[in-house]
Amino acid sequence: METVYFNGKFIPKDEVRISPDDRGFLFADGIYEVVRWYGKAFYDMEGHIRRLKRSLGELMINWIETEAFPVVAETLVKDNKFENSPTMVYLQVTRGAAKRTHYFPVPEVHPTSYAFAFTFNPDEQSFIKGIRVLLRPDIRWSRCDIKSIALLPNTISFQEAYTQGYKECIFVRDNLITEGAHSNIFFVSENTLYTHPESNYILSGITRNNVIRMAKKAGIRVTEEAIREDELGGLQEAFISNTSAEVTPVIELGGVTIGTGAPGPVTRRLQELFRKETEALKG
Ligand code: PDD
Repeated sequence: METVYFNGKFIPKDEVRISPDDRGFLFADGIYEVVRWYGKAFYDMEGHIRRLKRSLGELMINWIETEAFPVVAETLVKDNKFENSPTMVYLQVTRGAAKRTHYFPVPEVHPTSYAFAFTFNPDEQSFIKGIRVLLRPDIRWSRCDIKSIALLPNTISFQEAYTQGYKECIFVRDNLITEGAHSNIFFVSENTLYTHPESNYILSGITRNNVIRMAKKAGIRVTEEAIREDELGGLQEAFISNTSAEVTPVIELGGVTIGTGAPGPVTRRLQELFRKETEALKG
């Protein structure tokens, strides 16, 4: 039986009881995080904890167990015997259960916290060959910097991509490419790496931030500036980044072939650098 973390305890999944008054259920009033286990350790757990604190802070959810999350996550991996498999841990924290009001509950209620570990198969074919992605208007709200569980614009956009055989849906807002339904996006033009700057229109991806750090260290010029939709035809390379895809080449975006239609040298170099860091986290 799968062991999960629920409100401070490790219990079998079928013993979890969540109130229908939970504000996560009623309002999507909550946040989440996803961390990746590489066999011996998690990738940049410190970065994930920083973003978790920020998301909670922006929503004024007072979850006191934040600092314990690294231990919680590792316990879930080990108790479920996933230590030697590619594994993720998902954490969700909502404001808690209370009478349905648009104002936050007074007095405050205990947040509801739930975390589980799951194994997955890294998509090596996409990593090697690259992916084709859809381009759609960014129909999300203007606080995409919060890792909120309100993901309906992301899921309906991704579903459209998925049913058409695309691996991601990339968003465009006011002619600027923002990010994907569940990833950040980078471009290479004239030997410079471009990505949308941190703002309320994108999530500050942990993979994104580490890719930028690695690129700068490797002497690749990085410009945090958004690419316009009408510039796509003239770019040399593109890739998405997230916790599961790491650095995955994009060979076609919105029907436009990127560069030669094959993963390019800057993308390959960053894949290598990223893999080098994760190799060190393997058991
Ligand atoms: N998604 N942008 C969005 C909208 C995301 O949902 C994600 C992550 C990212 C990349 O963030 P990171 O590098 O920290 O994984 C960017 C996760 C994986 C998810 O929703 O499952």
